[in-house]
This record gives sequence, structure tokens and C-alpha cells, in this order.
Amino acid sequence: MPRLGAGTAPYTSRMRILGIESSCDETGVALVESGTTAVPRLVAHALHSQIAMHQAYGGVVPELASRDHIRRVLPLTEQVLGDAGVGRESIDVVAYTRGPGLAGALLVGAGVACALGAALERPVLGVHHLEGHLLSPFLSADPPEFPFVALLVSGGHTQLMRVEGVGRYEILGETIDDAAGEAFDKSAKLMGLPYPGGPWLAKLAEGGDPEAFKLPRPLLHSGDLDFSFAGLKTAVLTQAKKLADQLEARKADLAASTQAAIVEVLLRKSLAALDETGMKRLVVAGGVGANRLLRSQLDAACGRRRVRVHYPELHLCTDNGAMIAMAAAMRLQAGLEQASARYAFDVRPRWALDALPGA
Ligand code: KG4
Ligand code: ZN
Repeated sequence: MPRLGAGTAPYTSRMRILGIESSCDETGVALVESGTTAVPRLVAHALHSQIAMHQAYGGVVPELASRDHIRRVLPLTEQVLGDAGVGRESIDVVAYTRGPGLAGALLVGAGVACALGAALERPVLGVHHLEGHLLSPFLSADPPEFPFVALLVSGGHTQLMRVEGVGRYEILGETIDDAAGEAFDKSAKLMGLPYPGGPWLAKLAEGGDPEAFKLPRPLLHSGDLDFSFAGLKTAVLTQAKKLADQLEARKADLAASTQAAIVEVLLRKSLAALDETGMKRLVVAGGVGANRLLRSQLDAACGRRRVRVHYPELHLCTDNGAMIAMAAAMRLQAGLEQASARYAFDVRPRWALDALPGA
């Protein structure tokens, strides 16, 4: 077990970090080991998605989310330890998502993490959910190297960042209203698709014509790296109303046109960020990073510019415990943070990524 609060030295030896994610509608638990390989490695992880439960309501119901996290988190922890073939006593640090996210849902993960820490006499560490997404490509077989430009596209956030190292994040641009994930989800809802709409809209778009409808590309020529997607959603709504009873027949075309508009904005702004920084590496993270059109267009454009693009593994694009354990491992290894045995936890439903202590 690492000595508590003793600086960076203990973190160079082997350390097993349990990560707990409960910020929204997935309960994720994972075990990551650091100190034995150049980059910390994933030992085991388990996930329970609440999507089916929330689908009936067309979106996440916070109270139901919290209650379900309570039911799932300890059985998932047992599953992870079982899969890893280790006992609870071999956990060195318990990491949990401290924010941003739904307050009640975050409190479940934080409470369980601190209770586990106290029972096992192990320190705990609160992790920023978006830093988890940002560092999730380090869990892949071909991890990136610093520095890089990051495109963070989740359900609640759309940001371009200059990343010089762990904790060294500068926001280059972000959305001034809806996130890209929200644009996918809200447009999908207008088309009568289930929650969360992103993957459903992408699937429907496969059979549609992306040029069938002329939809706006907001802020494409704004000269900065900010995004805006609220207007696009309104344009989709107007188009859906115009189609009226033809909507069903033209749904695939509308989905394809919507996806093309969102992807084009994300692509152009990412390329502009690469130009502005002169960097030759792009990391894409967050749920929308699973989108196949976005991946293929980024791959093609970056290939032409000799820019390497890194993604998390597909199953680690959306929320999971592995990214939380990984972010904790990397912050501890970089000496940016010390796990604490005070167990007086709080959560931060709103929390800016560039407010984190950096190197
Ligand atoms: O990162 P994430 O799991 O949760 C947040 O932290 O918000 O991202 C969820 C978002 C949702 O908006 C979902 O619709 C979107 O990611 N998403 C996709 C795809 N898979 C997930 N959007 C477009 N295409 C996909 N294949
Ligand atoms: Zn997320």
C-alpha cells in the first residue's frame, strides 16, 4: 500500500487503482495497475448501462439514475475483482468521478468510494470526468504521446484543447450553447428515435443522402474555435415540420444531413486547431468519438496532413470506470495529486477542466 500523502515517491512502485464512474447513466467500475508498465494498464472492468431504464422517459431521470447506481456499484466491484483474480485488500487507491455530472449520481460513487477506502484503510481520489475521457486513449494498445490537440465531444461538452501533458490543458474553443452529443440527441428525438439518439441517428443515416437537406454549419467561418449547435437543432425541427407526414419516408435523409452538418463542423474546427497550434497529433474522446463518419473523415483529412489521430477503443468512448481509474493513475504518477485518507468527500456537478491543478 502506498504511504498516504507522501509525495510522488510511492507512486513509482506497483499500484492498483479501483475506478468508479457514476456521473450520469452508466455505472462503471475498473481496476488499473500502474508502475509495472510504461503506461498504466487496464486489468479488468465492468459496466452497467441504464439506457434501457431511461428510454421510457426519453432522457435521463436523475433520481432513477442515483437509485440504480446504488444497486449496481458494489456487485460490479465484486465482478471486477473476480475477473482480475484479486481480493479487495489488493486495491491501493480508490478513485471516483467527483464531477461534472448529476449531483445525486455523483454522490453515490463518491460515497461508496470513500466507504470502501475507509473500510480497507486505503486513500481515495476524486477525478474529473472529462479528464477521464481525455486520457481514455491511453488505455488503447497504441497510446498517444504528448503534446496533442484534443477534441472532446461528449453528451454535455464540446471542447478543443491544447494538451501539453497530464494536467496541462488549455481550452482553445468550446460550444457556446448545445454540445455535439446534445445536437445528435435532440435531433434524433425530433425524428422519434430512442434515447440516447446519437448512435440511432448514425445508424439511420447510413441509408440516407447527406446532401438531401441544406442544414446550417454554425460558426464554421467564425475565425475562432468555438462551436454552436442550438441553431442546427432548430433547423432540423423546421425541416421536420415542413416534411410533416413525409417525415417518416425522408427520415434517413434528414438523419444523414444532420450528421453531415455536425461532423463537418467538428472536422473543420479540429483541423483549424491543428493549424493554429502546429501540432501533429489529434486525440478524439467522448461518446461522439464513437461516430463512424466522424472517425473516417478525421482519418482521411489528418492522413493527408500527416497528423496522427488517436481514439479510445470503441467500447471505452462512452462513460466507463476504466477512464476514471486511468486518469487517477496518471495524475498520481505525474505527482499532481495525492490520494487522501480524510474521506470527507464532496462532488462538483459543474467543474471546469482547466481549473484542475496542473504541472
Ligand atoms: O461521453 P458520453 O458517454 O457521456 C457524457 O459524458 O456526456 O457521451 C454520450 C453522448 C450522447 O450524446 C450519445 O448520443 C453520443 O455520445 N454518442 C454518439 C454515438 N455514440 C454515442 N453520437 C454520435 N454517433 C455515435 N455513434
Ligand atoms: Zn462522459
